Amino acid sequence: MRVYLDNNATTIVDPAVEEKMIPFFCQMYGNPNSLHQFGSETHPALKRAMDQLYSGINAKDNDDVIVTSCATESNNWVLKGIYFDKIKTGEKDHIITSSVEHPSITAACKFLETQGVRVTYLPVNSEGVVEIESLKEAIDDKTALVSIMWANNETGMIFPIKEMARIAHEKGALFHSDAVQAIGKIAVDVQDTGVDFLSFSAHKFHGPKGVGGLYIKDSIPLTSLLHGGEHMGGRRSGTLNVPGIVAMGEAMELAVKYLEYEYKEVTRLRNKLEDALLEIEDVFVVGKREHRVPNTILASIKGVEGEAMLWDLNRYGIAASTGSACASEELESNPVMEAIGADADLSHTALRLSLSRFTTEKEIDYAIIHIKEAVKRLRAISSTYSYAPKNHKSGL
Ligand SMILES: Cc1ncc(COP(=O)(O)O)c(C=O)c1O
Repeated sequence: MRVYLDNNATTIVDPAVEEKMIPFFCQMYGNPNSLHQFGSETHPALKRAMDQLYSGINAKDNDDVIVTSCATESNNWVLKGIYFDKIKTGEKDHIITSSVEHPSITAACKFLETQGVRVTYLPVNSEGVVEIESLKEAIDDKTALVSIMWANNETGMIFPIKEMARIAHEKGALFHSDAVQAIGKIAVDVQDTGVDFLSFSAHKFHGPKGVGGLYIKDSIPLTSLLHGGEHMGGRRSGTLNVPGIVAMGEAMELAVKYLEYEYKEVTRLRNKLEDALLEIEDVFVVGKREHRVPNTILASIKGVEGEAMLWDLNRYGIAASTGSACASEELESNPVMEAIGADADLSHTALRLSLSRFTTEKEIDYAIIHIKEAVKRLRAISSTYSYAPKNHKSGL
């Protein structure tokens, strides 16, 4: 059996989405900008896809939704665009973000610091969420942009976006949210929250990889990252990724359609898995369930090194994550765990389990059995963990 519990890394393409995109590879493969029928026959599908994207996040007609290659591009675009438009011009000098953003935000901010930008990385509380007060303290008249994620990729914790956007606006700053881990899991409404920019990525909501988007409220001017043939209304050059756009539109419509299912059924399965984990001694889960998106659990299993757990589960066909980059030979600690102030033991024993609407009860039952067995096996050989003798009559 193969059980995929790493949906915050990427998701399976919904077969309905795949079906919609296939004709645009070998049948309707024209360049939409060409003047012949090969080009023009792609237009109705592109129009439909853009409508689906607008409607999925509740954008208005005078907003822009620009298709990008991924959310990494969208995030970089906002930060660097603001740098060119508001900071290099001398108008402002400051960007605020959080200490638990995806590297596509933090690495871009680190780069901007080398260009003289003042960046504040807001701390998070023990649940991994930025407190409103810390934003109020950090923001000043020179703040150009506040960029805070909608939901965290490691913990699944949801951030108070609406209130943060309001605080940013009161101080004359623009507000961006990386909503990559929110779309398809909870409702994302750009008008209700008042965000100015919003990033998303199709492969996180059952669309294909290599296509994402950036929402821009009221078509606010933002210096382009990609100059060239003036595609996307001159905002982003590059021949349109027709299959990708068609697929992302369809995936967005389905993401909204299945929200109710996410709230009920994905939450139920996630809670079942989480309850089973918490039956194990010395297991800690980050953040209250009701504050998280429906699909995510970030647990720490004392005495069980995250990587060892992944290897063990992988032998049984179960895919999970430690949440760390795993790019080095060394055992990585989970960066979000570190940001919430968890000790080294908790950070090194992180296990992220993320479900999707394609996860079945049978898969969860199978995962529960094998996680419990893996914990027993790995703790038995752990040099740091020993089962403390239980003394329920400790008062005697
Ligand atoms: C919160 C968040 N932002 C941005 C990204 C980057 O998305 P993409 O793979 O489309 O570049 C990810 C991917 O893991 C993410 O989880």
